[in-house]
Amino acid sequence: MTQAELLALADQVLLKNNKPQPIVLTRASGCEVWDVAGTRYLDMTAGIAVCGLGHAHPVFTERVAAQLGRLVHISNLYYNEQQILAAKAIVDHSFADRVFFCNSGAEANEGALKLARRFQDIVNGAPERTTFVSTVGSFHGRTFATVAITGQAKYREHFGPLVGPVEHIAYGDIGAATRALENKTACAIIVEPIQAEGGIVIPPPGYLAALRQLCDDTQTILIFDEVQTGMGRTGKWFGHQHDNVFPDVMTLAKGLGGGVPIGAVAMTERAAAGLTQQPGGAVPHATTFGGNSLACAAANAVFDIIEKEQLLARITESGEYLAGKLAGLVSEFPGHATEVRGRGLLRGLAVSGAPAQVVARGREKGVLLSVAGDKVVRFAPPYIVSKAQLDEAVSILRSVLAEGVGK
Ligand SMILES: Cc1ncc(COP(=O)(O)O)c(C=O)c1O
Repeated sequence: MTQAELLALADQVLLKNNKPQPIVLTRASGCEVWDVAGTRYLDMTAGIAVCGLGHAHPVFTERVAAQLGRLVHISNLYYNEQQILAAKAIVDHSFADRVFFCNSGAEANEGALKLARRFQDIVNGAPERTTFVSTVGSFHGRTFATVAITGQAKYREHFGPLVGPVEHIAYGDIGAATRALENKTACAIIVEPIQAEGGIVIPPPGYLAALRQLCDDTQTILIFDEVQTGMGRTGKWFGHQHDNVFPDVMTLAKGLGGGVPIGAVAMTERAAAGLTQQPGGAVPHATTFGGNSLACAAANAVFDIIEKEQLLARITESGEYLAGKLAGLVSEFPGHATEVRGRGLLRGLAVSGAPAQVVARGREKGVLLSVAGDKVVRFAPPYIVSKAQLDEAVSILRSVLAEGVGK
């Protein structure tokens, strides 16, 4: 079918819940993707911070394909080798002692929230501690509990009554966090180390450490949502490692499977009590596909390849390079390109007008970008992106700004 025919069919058969760019992509390699009409695009989205290794990485492809022929799925009635090894990889690279696997970021956060409620009940003997504290501007997913905790009203509209109680406090404001936690009605506070969908917002220095102290003082579960910042995206394995502060629970998805859907809840031994089955008790949490052999083989390949190709150092270096280039646009287009944000290869250029227009025009000119928040054009390219590719992407973005788009 032609691209026009496929777009017409999509219009008929797909739910119109969002409005994708009007291209139908069919194949990809590294940082390049092609649509059905044969047009090539430079990919600065990596499937929204997912395909860190780039598209069709040969080793990744080979390992996932081999697993496909060996064992795809056997359920959680049994252990499977890939799941155990993937849990070990997360444990070895983080603060965590134990891991629960699921299928997406929202689902990982659901698990973390359930853990927190049950932890307060079972471990602290405080079933009345039910409030989820979250931050304004955050994004935690689209399920009922995760839209409720997401700190942007637009995601919650028309879905009431919402899961709660939830208290939204200002991001980066430790005074607000102290007020929310000191009366001990909260079971958990959930924060992103960098608010990604909210516009790539980095909290003030010391914020995560102060939250850690506050949670210790009040026996509140500290959840870091690393769905977007995890798996190397910011230049360390996990975003909070820049601050040398550790949560009780961390949620992962996106980059973990290199494009194969997977989510994870990683936790300390102590926090794990929140989801541990009690003798004679019911299974507190589970999912059919969680820990699937194929998804876990993908995660194991991602860990191995990031390590073998020393991608963390490359992410840091390429991220600095990109930030420098974007800063050049801020100088060249004052009042139009207003600010560079981010860390590693999660970067944003704030614009004075509509970033969606910049993204659409960029796509017409051959670069795929995405929007974060109300004002930011996001770069989240594959970790393997070359300087030449970053140059090409920024030069297209420059030409878009030169046309006055997004002013
Ligand atoms: C920080 C964060 N948490 C959770 C989610 C939800 O993940 P998923 O779309 O896999 O459910 C996202 C998705 O963008 C995210 O950025």
